[in-house]
Parts: sequence; C-alpha cells; structure tokens
Amino acid sequence: MPKLSMRGIVKRFGGVVALDGVDFDVRPGEVMALVGDNGAGKSTLIKTLAGAHMPDEGVIEIDGAPVRFTSPQDAWTRGVATIFQELALAGKMTIADNIFLGREITRRIAGVEFLDRRAMRDRAHALLNELDVVVPDIHTWVEHLSGGQRQGVAIARALNIDAEVIIMDEPTAALAVAEVRKVLNFVRTLREQGKSVILISHNVGDVLEVSDRITVLRRGRRTGLLETARTTPEEVVAHITGAVVSEERVEPAPSP
Ligand SMILES: Nc1ncnc2c1ncn2[C@@H]1O[C@H](COP(=O)(O)OP(=O)(O)OP(=O)(O)O)[C@@H](O)[C@H]1O
Ligand SMILES: [Mg+2]
Repeated sequence: MPKLSMRGIVKRFGGVVALDGVDFDVRPGEVMALVGDNGAGKSTLIKTLAGAHMPDEGVIEIDGAPVRFTSPQDAWTRGVATIFQELALAGKMTIADNIFLGREITRRIAGVEFLDRRAMRDRAHALLNELDVVVPDIHTWVEHLSGGQRQGVAIARALNIDAEVIIMDEPTAALAVAEVRKVLNFVRTLREQGKSVILISHNVGDVLEVSDRITVLRRGRRTGLLETARTTPEEVVAHITGAVVSEERVEPAPSP
C-alpha cells in the first residue's frame, strides 16, 4: 500500500487550471521525484499535499485513510513535513532553536516548567550527526550557514517530529557541487530510515541518481510515471518537454 496517495487532484487559480486531475503516490522507504517544466504544477501539487492550498477536487490518503490538512502546520504535526522552495527557517535564530521551533523540550523543577537546553542541544547534535551535517556550533544563527547546511537543519527539524513523509522542493537549487552531494546524501539517509521522500528537482542527473520512481507533470497533468532503474535522461526529458506522451488523458477533453 502506498504511504501516501493523491487521486484526481484539481486546483484552479481563477481561470488558470494549475492541476488538472493529477494522480500521485509514494511508498514507504521510497524516493519519488517530481519533475516538470516551470509552471508545470509541481509546487502547487505539494502545497496541496502540505495543506497550504485546498484542492478543488480529489482525495488525499495516508496509509489508506483520507486526510484533509488545513495548514502546513497541521500536515507537519501529522507527519507530513514540507521543506518549501522558499526555505522556512528563521535566520536570526540558532540552529537548535530552529530544530525545536514549536516543539521545545521542557522539564519541571519544583512544578515550574523550564526549557531543557541541554536536552535540546544533545538531541540537535544527535539529529545532525545522523545526517552527517557538520555545523560550527549549535548556537550559530541559521543565517550564517551555507545553503546545504540549512537544508540539513530543515531536515533535522522534520526528523525531530518523526515525520514519515518528507517533501523537498528544489533543495539543491543554487547550491555548490559539494553541497548538492550532501543534500542528495540526506535524501538517501531518509530512505534508509524508511521515510517516504518526495523530491522536486530540475536536475535530471540528481533525480536519476537518488530516486526510485519519477512522476512527470506537464501543464497540470501527469504525463509520465517512470521507474528510475529502467529509464534514461533522454526519456525523462522527452516526458518533460512533451515529446513523449505515455499516459492516458493527455489530450484535452472536448469541452461540453
Ligand atoms: N497562488 C497562485 N495564484 C495564481 N496562479 C498560481 C498560483 N500558484 C501557482 N499558480 C500558477 O499555477 C501554475 C503552476 O505553478 P507552480 O508554481 O505549481 O509550477 P512549478 O511546476 O512549481 O514551477 P517551477 O518549476 O517554476 O517552480 C502556473 O501557471 C502558475 O502561474
Ligand atoms: Mg515550483
């Protein structure tokens, strides 16, 4: 059974049909890549999944049960963590504070609740170690970190709440080569832990390297669902550009 599935998702913005009946799923311990040209609907699909947009039509299921998230926070607390294209970390807060934002560890002394800074520091170290993220100091402000380190902190934050589905929108865009390697390794680590990862990327090489399957969107429709081990860069690009059409319903339905 898929960990998560979306069926017949329609999302309109005024006259624009951003998603036109999209089916999408991801299994446990799988990396599902989501690719497509600019404006294909990738971010809209994951925003719909993450509770940032309400779909106009369609169903979303987790472990076979229908869900309806009312906000990214709602999705987050129910195990679907999204790291948006515009990374949602607080620059003027420390690494540790970002990881525990809204989830602080506390302890009681004589009935009074205190933040347990030592516990949070230890847990932050453990989470970053798991991901092999090297940071100068856990109390460094996030705005002083590199793009790859920031991705690491964002993922550590998702791991801290035991998210089972982790969605990353263009995590490697604008990163230097060495940092891209790091982020791809984060993705592999998450898969090894049995998480479901949804990875949006424009880089076909990265996608072929880390994904298990690839969903291709084009103009709001799914035009391809490929097994990574059995495809080629040329085939992926052909689906993205519309040179190959493998799925039914790719022709516009005649208007009534
Ligand atoms: N909030 C919005 N209001 C109106 N139109 C929107 C909104 N968000 C997205 N769209 C439109 O929906 C379509 C899909 O956009 P989306 O951002 O999902 O594309 P994308 O595949 O993520 O592209 P990119 O690769 O450039 O990030 C586009 O035509 C876009 O202009
Ligand atoms: Mg986008």
